[in-house]
Amino acid sequence: MTTLPLRTTPATLTPGDLGHDLRTTPPAAAAARVRAELADAGAVLLRGFGVDGTDDFAAVVAALGGERLEYTERSTPRKSLGGRVYTSTEYAKDKEIFFHNENSYQASWPRWLFFHCSVPAAGGGATPLADIREVTRLLDADVRAEFAERGWLHVRTYQPGFGLPWPEVFGTEDRAEVDRYCAAAGITTTWRPDGVLQTRARRAAFHRHPDTGESLWFNHIAFFHPSTLPPAALAVLTDMLGHDSLPNDTCYGDGKRIPDSVCAHIRDCYRRASSRFDYERGDVLFVDNMLAAHGREPYDGDRSVAVAMTGLVRGTA
Ligand SMILES: [Fe+2]
Repeated sequence: MTTLPLRTTPATLTPGDLGHDLRTTPPAAAAARVRAELADAGAVLLRGFGVDGTDDFAAVVAALGGERLEYTERSTPRKSLGGRVYTSTEYAKDKEIFFHNENSYQASWPRWLFFHCSVPAAGGGATPLADIREVTRLLDADVRAEFAERGWLHVRTYQPGFGLPWPEVFGTEDRAEVDRYCAAAGITTTWRPDGVLQTRARRAAFHRHPDTGESLWFNHIAFFHPSTLPPAALAVLTDMLGHDSLPNDTCYGDGKRIPDSVCAHIRDCYRRASSRFDYERGDVLFVDNMLAAHGREPYDGDRSVAVAMTGLVRGTA
């Protein structure tokens, strides 16, 4: 649980601020207000709109973000609630999910994320946010320069029983179809003699924001690095799978190891740039996926948060 002082993000907007309930296309002035706050803060908390149930949530998403995206090439278990609305990642509630920008390991990613809380946790369970402009500023200049030059590599190994099976990730049992999808997405595939699939994708560490052209730290380098796992979990995994077959791993773009100390520094930058708030029932959190990274605090009791994604940004590097 973070003990850092609260920053001002996300901006909070209420029906009184907008003069509209957001279940239908908002008037131009209200839409412009939401977009302006989003561009400034990276995330907007829409509170007091009484958003109740998947249909309400889908209507707000459509009004502000347009058509909802499928969750493809997934890395985490989610359930579909229908209409391209998903449960947030189903992951042990006593564990933190570290900061990440959704799908930043892919060739393209959602531009906007929407979270809808229908059941707030009894304790914890926030969706903490990290200001990516601030993360980009806080990173040591030599770390920025190194990754700008070398990029990063995402190595994913589909070991049975560890993480999602590849047919679920790619939505097919057909290896040739997986190869075609991967080739088009800049991913190389290796089918091991034991049938285990390993994929490698070289990605840029920085990407430009489609509106402002800002160069932003946007990747899963720290999230997928072994040093971000709890030490006991990492020990079990390496014992069972070896160091070169972890479900997810990251390296410099040339395949050389990233020192643990570098990833510790990167994690520290996210935490220093972070803020949190407690959900209330009916809250909708609207996130610019490139301006704000999100995570999940551990929590007590029940918690129900749905997610939808809209817009599509294609990486340029
Ligand atoms: Fe996420």
